[in-house]
Amino acid sequence: MAAFDHTGKVFVVTGGSRGIGESIVRTLAAEGATVYSTYNANAERAQAITADVAERGGTVHYQSVDVANEDAVKAFVDHVVQQAGRIDGLVNNAGITRDGLIMRMSSKDWNDVLQTNLTGVFYACRAVARPMMSQRTGRIVNIGSIVGLGGNAGQVNYSSAKAGLVGLTRSLARELASRNILVNCIAPGYVETDMTDKLTEDQKKAFSDSIPLKRSATAEEIASVVSFFLSDRSSYITGQVLNVDGGLAM
Ligand SMILES: NC(=O)c1ccc[n+]([C@@H]2O[C@H](COP(=O)([O-])OP(=O)(O)OC[C@H]3O[C@@H](n4cnc5c(N)ncnc54)[C@H](O)[C@@H]3O)[C@@H](O)[C@H]2O)c1
Repeated sequence: MAAFDHTGKVFVVTGGSRGIGESIVRTLAAEGATVYSTYNANAERAQAITADVAERGGTVHYQSVDVANEDAVKAFVDHVVQQAGRIDGLVNNAGITRDGLIMRMSSKDWNDVLQTNLTGVFYACRAVARPMMSQRTGRIVNIGSIVGLGGNAGQVNYSSAKAGLVGLTRSLARELASRNILVNCIAPGYVETDMTDKLTEDQKKAFSDSIPLKRSATAEEIASVVSFFLSDRSSYITGQVLNVDGGLAM
């Protein structure tokens, strides 16, 4: 059952071919939106999701876009505006990890994570700002992480990028509020996806045990909060960071 009605809305979701992004795409399409999403490497998976969403009466269009590439992001957003005529919401979901303790972290691993997880978000926000400003309405939802707030050993690159998203969210919320563009950030805790599949079973159990709700989140539990932030039901919320973490970071 759809929780929100996004009929007629046009949403852009980065990194939508698996994990949390796929769930966001499927949720928004099921709720009536036309979704434009990106994949990075797996064209077959994007095709399979497109077909499955269509079978359920929804619409998603995928394009291969590297969010770390300024020109590619701009061209993608221009293409959406040209095809759909508007962009009601942008979800910055694409992200990578290159974990390691600082003594062993290469400059490349630092730069790659900052470029994809923070600079890529800047590129996408800048690209949608103009169409949203002329529409005088818009929503931007950034997928951060609780480690951007509390830090995490072995993730100075990732947590710095996610902390940067908090500043970006708040500054942009202030900048765009007068045009009725709302900008918020969701900070998930532990969600079982390919990204966290690198953890050992022992690490997963220890992690789950430390969460007050005693379990990881499903990707759908993140997607439903994204949908709320894109909906009319959140019309007075901007510049916020909402932890969706089972109580982990209280
Ligand atoms: N899984 C978790 O526990 C967790 C917790 C907190 C935050 N997050 C955040 O949620 C988001 C989604 O994570 P996930 O767990 O689904 O991870 P995932 O690795 O399953 O998916 C990440 C997606 O981003 C895409 N992507 C990566 N680099 C890209 C690039 N340069 N250009 C375009 N697309 C690119 C990938 O293709 C993939 O579709 C990320 O921003 C992540 O940091 C995840």
